[in-house]
Amino acid sequence: MLSIIVAKSKNNIIGKNNQLLWNLPDDLKRFRKITENHTIIMGRKTFESIGKVLPNRKHVIMTHNTDFKVDNPNVEIAHDIYDLKEYINSEEECFVIGGAMIYNLLMPNVERMYVTEIDKEFQGDSFFPKINSDDWVVVSEDEGPEDGINHFTYRYVIYKRK
Ligand SMILES: NC(=O)c1ccc[n+]([C@@H]2O[C@H](COP(=O)([O-])OP(=O)(O)OC[C@H]3O[C@@H](n4cnc5c(N)ncnc54)[C@H](OP(=O)(O)O)[C@@H]3O)[C@@H](O)[C@H]2O)c1
Repeated sequence: MLSIIVAKSKNNIIGKNNQLLWNLPDDLKRFRKITENHTIIMGRKTFESIGKVLPNRKHVIMTHNTDFKVDNPNVEIAHDIYDLKEYINSEEECFVIGGAMIYNLLMPNVERMYVTEIDKEFQGDSFFPKINSDDWVVVSEDEGPEDGINHFTYRYVIYKRK
């Protein structure tokens, strides 16, 4: 089963110049807690933006480049959506962690979404697809804690496919 995990602004921005636009320590902690010991699926650009293999997670990196290699036993390369069949059909929850191209590609195959909704607009170049309320129902919504760093509020919202 696939789940999406994402942080997005009020205007659905998720990044700019292959970087995140905010520093939300609690969100990063939550990302680690939710994805640890699971498989994470990402685009080649997001992998390069993270810049390293994250501990305690199997990584599946999507690229069309058949020469692309990462010398790490926790990394697998996928060249198209058919290479993801075992994760889509798995009983276990596997996490699609971005970026925009990969969210768009896999959203139709996703059952659950963990969305950090930031109550502020940002200017960026990567967008999260529109969440259509005909397809998704909110199962929980929690206010993110104040952190003394950010001057905006944010919410952790979990959506389930209807
Ligand atoms: N806010 C968040 O939660 C969050 C999370 C993740 C990322 N981001 C942001 O999102 C941005 C990156 O998103 P992006 O859309 O530019 O890049 P991306 O989705 O991370 O990666 C795109 C790459 O994935 C590969 N790819 C795409 N579709 C494929 C397919 N069908 N089969 C095989 N490979 C495929 C291609 O790699 P090749 O070019 O190598 O073929 C493509 O260039 C950054 O700004 C990042 O900071 C934000």
